[in-house]
Amino acid sequence: MEFRSSRWYAGNDRNSYIHRAWMRRGLPPEAFEGGKPHIAIANTASDLTPCNSHLNEVAQSVVHGVWEAGGVPLNLPVVSLGETNVRPTAMLWRNLAAMATEEMLRANPIDGVVLLGGCDKTIPSLLMAAASVDLPAVVVPGGPMLTGHFRGAPLGCGTDVWRLSEEVRAGTLSREAFLRSESSMIRSRGHCNTMGTASTMAFMAEALGMTLPGTAGTPAPDSRLLERSHETGRLAVELVMAGRRPSQVMTRGSFLNAIVTLAAVGGSTNAVVHLLAIAGRLGVELSLDDFDRTGSGVPLLVDLQPAGRHLMDDLFRAGGLAAVLKEVEDLLDPAAITVTGRPLAEHLDGAGIWDEDVIRRRSNPLLPDAGIAVLRGNLAPSGAVIKPAAASPELLRHRGRAVVFDSVEDVHARLDSPDLDVDETSVLVLRGCGPKGYPGMPEVGNLPLPAKLLEKGVRDMVRISDARMSGTAYGTVVLHTAPEAAAGGPLARVRTGDPVVLDVAARRLDVDVPDAELNAREPVTNGYARPARGWERLYVEHVTQADRGADLDFLIGSSGDRVGRESH
Ligand code: FES
Repeated sequence: MEFRSSRWYAGNDRNSYIHRAWMRRGLPPEAFEGGKPHIAIANTASDLTPCNSHLNEVAQSVVHGVWEAGGVPLNLPVVSLGETNVRPTAMLWRNLAAMATEEMLRANPIDGVVLLGGCDKTIPSLLMAAASVDLPAVVVPGGPMLTGHFRGAPLGCGTDVWRLSEEVRAGTLSREAFLRSESSMIRSRGHCNTMGTASTMAFMAEALGMTLPGTAGTPAPDSRLLERSHETGRLAVELVMAGRRPSQVMTRGSFLNAIVTLAAVGGSTNAVVHLLAIAGRLGVELSLDDFDRTGSGVPLLVDLQPAGRHLMDDLFRAGGLAAVLKEVEDLLDPAAITVTGRPLAEHLDGAGIWDEDVIRRRSNPLLPDAGIAVLRGNLAPSGAVIKPAAASPELLRHRGRAVVFDSVEDVHARLDSPDLDVDETSVLVLRGCGPKGYPGMPEVGNLPLPAKLLEKGVRDMVRISDARMSGTAYGTVVLHTAPEAAAGGPLARVRTGDPVVLDVAARRLDVDVPDAELNAREPVTNGYARPARGWERLYVEHVTQADRGADLDFLIGSSGDRVGRESH
């Protein structure tokens, strides 16, 4: 078969000479004679993305597998995003990472790609890129870290930072003890060990069919991750030989499988924007309502923080994703294939639950209905989302007085003021934190509770925003409200004191103010200024709202792998 890379290397002319000569560097001539597919290893390893820093070792195992199967492996470092480091928010750069990776995959002489990701935005950006170029591709998720302990208790990274810092604010934990827990939080290589966004997106990649089945969720230090990486290298060569592309694997059925999986594992709300963005790149019809429809009635089977008790290495020990999927096998699309060419369901034979405390049987779920709920109303004409599994059941139907904050800085300035007019029935509203408004839609939707209420023992309140929430966070938090305030959404017209009505069962989110009065108000979009230059400028001019995945409007749709011109 003729490989794509032969368009660079084949022939006896000056251009093919240039392409070959600079690439030789010890590689044998047959590497360029057209019989071997060239496999890029798109690697997000970076010292500044600590969750991914072990991926160079993973890449070595992939390299061995590619050689063994008759391919030529090529390391391709790509833009990496460390969730805890990158300012103002990693989400501002997800589309940049996706665009840069897309262009480098297309621009280079490669036939297929292995995608190495881990930390929250890295798997989404790699999948968006692969979807756009549509070269044969397979993901190796870097895997979660092992569980650290503090004072004998396991630490869920992310989740326990929020919990412990709230305890400090409530006066039930000293700052000294809080800081002592810091060195216990990250026990090993790997990403966050809760069912946060990184764990969720690894599972989404597998449910979409884009990993070697059985790989996602393997802890980063576990030698089986390297074994799977080696096999994935071999599989990448097979993918090229079979001509199996992301567009054949990530079909609408695969996305619906991902939504079922998202509910069954109690995954992060961030998966909503990422899956919508990936689907957009492929031209797959997927809407916010698909999450509600398909996730509805799917039971929560995994008892993991932040909604539950256990952590990712417990889940792996208990049987892993395959054991969860086996329980909901009848809800999966039997026709949706994986990178192996066989349907996801065919890979579940032999799956078993080894600890029913961690993975529940379908007959004994943690919740009978764990899907993400999509709300609409005069506060969210294009939709908003809430994760009922992470919310307080008694707050899922609630009417309360709005206490409005115009920005994150406004929250910091006023939230703990003794003069803040708030009680436990209030609804905290945060605006100016959507894709355009912040810009970048940060994870601030789970804004902290006012100190004076924490001191009274209040641990949850209804919160509404146009922001996202960390997958490691929890609470009765309405997120992704669209359109956002900075795009003229009704959040910009809410005032402190307005009655806000949340009714999750009815899928409604409203402010009880007559439309005429609401529309007559001057919208508050302060904090929103058009950036002067660079990526931020491009981003705010083209980013779509959350209900369309917050991708750039001109990146929607696939462009394929063709490159028309040659510079030499
Ligand atoms: Fe990287 Fe949580 S900070 S996965």
